[in-house]
Amino acid sequence: MMAYRDIQVDPPRNGVQLIRLNRPEAHNALRTALLGELAEALAAAATVDEQVRVVLLSGSEKVFAAGADIKEMAALDAVGLWKDRRPQHWKAIRGFPKPLIAAVNGYCLGGGLELAMHADCIIAGEDARFGQPEINLGIIPGAGGTQRLVRAVGKSLAMKLILSGEFIGAREALAAGLVAEVTQPELTLKRATALAETMAEKSPIALRLAKEAILASFETPLSQGLELERKAFLFLAASADRREGIEAFLEKRPPKFTGQ
Ligand code: CAA
Repeated sequence: MMAYRDIQVDPPRNGVQLIRLNRPEAHNALRTALLGELAEALAAAATVDEQVRVVLLSGSEKVFAAGADIKEMAALDAVGLWKDRRPQHWKAIRGFPKPLIAAVNGYCLGGGLELAMHADCIIAGEDARFGQPEINLGIIPGAGGTQRLVRAVGKSLAMKLILSGEFIGAREALAAGLVAEVTQPELTLKRATALAETMAEKSPIALRLAKEAILASFETPLSQGLELERKAFLFLAASADRREGIEAFLEKRPPKFTGQ
């Protein structure tokens, strides 16, 4: 296992790898080095076939992440920002092909919310606070917030959050569709782990194609999305996992998916 400074990567268990953001001194602010480590850890998790089927991303019990590192950002001028490797790291995070679940407790702000929105679904503790407070700094979200938040919660709430810098709580985030589930704060990681383990039992090929098809729905007209789904569906007919899934159902036993 690689040694990281800003994140902690646990060995996989039951097909699930837990990655924790680990900068308690800065409320897990996402400095460029942290994003680089995350991109690297996800690239490694993407290539390990059997052991890692799902990745779970969490912060601490008090904070998921309080955004980009404002102190680091303050030292960069326009050219410095332009040369910074952050966009490449975000791209690598976005390209992670396996299910990625975010378990969120406490503050999930700015780049922290943008990171959570890079995950495929968010499980939130009742104490979670979501917001895009960049406007308070005289800037705007810079890692997809203006695009992803609108798609997640619709125009009106996205405008309210991004233009005012106000936060919303977990219940409101649930009602708006930003998060998939709300738990008691002390159970967030446990519930997210259970969900990740449920996903990890499924066919890795089907998981990957389902994720790809859902993400494509944000980028394509319906007719193209349906075509992509159809092709992915047909492709799966060639997999041993599909045979296994159907046979197991007919034989009234749990399936054992191998990713073949
Ligand atoms: N960057 C750097 N350091 C941060 C930070 C951030 N985003 N957020 C918190 N910290 C640091 C604080 O400076 C403080 O460090 P010191 O003890 O050395 O002063 C430490 O973490 C604890 O923070 P607070 O004392 O402020 O803790 P609090 O509990 O009183 O408040 C908070 C918590 C409301 C989250 C507050 O820290 C806060 O408002 N943080 C900034 C949130 C923000 O504006 N995020 C957007 C960043 S810009 C961005 O993300 C751009 C983008 O889209 C890519």
